Amino acid sequence: VVTGRPTALAALVLGIVAAATGGVASGQDVVGVYLTYPADPTTGMVVNWVNLYPQNTGTVWFRETGTDEWASAEAEHSQLAPSALQLRRVELGGLRPDRPYEFGIGSRPEGRDKGWRFRTMPARLERLVRFVSGGDMMHSREQLDRMNRQAARLEPDFALLGGDFAYANGVAAMRWVDWLGSWSSAALARDRRLIPIVPAIGNHEVRGGYGGEIPKDAPYYYGLFVRPGGRSYHALDVGDYLSLVVLDSGHTEAIAGPQASWLAEALAAREARPYLFVAYHFPAYGTAKGPADGLAVDHPRSAEIREHWLPHLDRFGPTAVFEHDHHTFKRTHRLRGHRRDDENGLIFLGDGAWGVKTRPVPAAESAWWLAKAEARNHLWAIDLRPSAPPLARAFDEDGEIFDEVELVPVRPMPVPEGLPVAVPESEPELEPATAS
Ligand SMILES: [Fe+2]
Repeated sequence: VVTGRPTALAALVLGIVAAATGGVASGQDVVGVYLTYPADPTTGMVVNWVNLYPQNTGTVWFRETGTDEWASAEAEHSQLAPSALQLRRVELGGLRPDRPYEFGIGSRPEGRDKGWRFRTMPARLERLVRFVSGGDMMHSREQLDRMNRQAARLEPDFALLGGDFAYANGVAAMRWVDWLGSWSSAALARDRRLIPIVPAIGNHEVRGGYGGEIPKDAPYYYGLFVRPGGRSYHALDVGDYLSLVVLDSGHTEAIAGPQASWLAEALAAREARPYLFVAYHFPAYGTAKGPADGLAVDHPRSAEIREHWLPHLDRFGPTAVFEHDHHTFKRTHRLRGHRRDDENGLIFLGDGAWGVKTRPVPAAESAWWLAKAEARNHLWAIDLRPSAPPLARAFDEDGEIFDEVELVPVRPMPVPEGLPVAVPESEPELEPATAS
């Protein structure tokens, strides 16, 4: 027999539950909020967040900072399967370039300590544009937090992240909970500004690491970062000055075949762009993982990347190439045709040591391709400057700059036929590789 009183109590309890999990801003239990870019990062932003409740609001309130009028947008909702985490994603468009925006989930954020901010990219390079880059991010939450805080201190426009985010291996969703929590707190820049992510996939996003099935073996990477119909390899153009080309070094897409063909087309379409950066996870010119009887460059996967990607990179001359996975710091000499070419070669920056235990680096005399290598946690910060060449600097987690190089030539191109190619005849002299 159901009496009136328990029913009223049940209704009251249900009401409280609804208030706690419904449209109340303070009851969102946001695991993490993060930004990714739409096709045009100068006029739009994609706001993504993860929480625990299928029934929560999907409404984002936003406005340009300093204006009065709020606008709202409704996020798409999906489950970050096979976990029970809930993902929401909304693309905000029609924004003005190089402007600050503020937003809240479920309600208008009241006060500077509420909600989050973002900034659209400038359409032209009329101010310093800075991005940070690195990968191999989270052996432990503490290590991730430390380098994320350093990233935030640099106030970058965005972060180009080269894979091995959470070491979830396509399985451990709780590691993504940690990663997202750190990114939305430790990696917050001034005024609660979130740093947009340009992601590349690594082996630790994928069950088995290599040759994974899409999206089954990398459900969280694909769920969080690849929009429906999208791919792990992609290109992004920013205004009239910058392009990013991001590749999948065999984790869910083969290195050879369609991806290599796409790379050739993507680079050809960006031949005239002032600045072009390429990023992928496993290195062509690595530091710490070689076969038992060989050097890091002898790794079969490195050789495969050089065979299928390097001819295109050599032809179109990216400003720099970011590589990861080896848990070291490295800067290569300028290389072309698998030889040192100081005038016109490509430079490779790596090797993925954002928040992981580092590995020893090879002795300088054995690694002819390396200008500098250290077993040191770091991130790269790249400054695009209106009236100077781009500057690449390596920061450790305490903010110490321990390497610095101007990226000149900005677009290294093949030497025209008939001109001498600058390749040293003897083995090049090397800076000592320190192992701090
Ligand atoms: Fe890796």
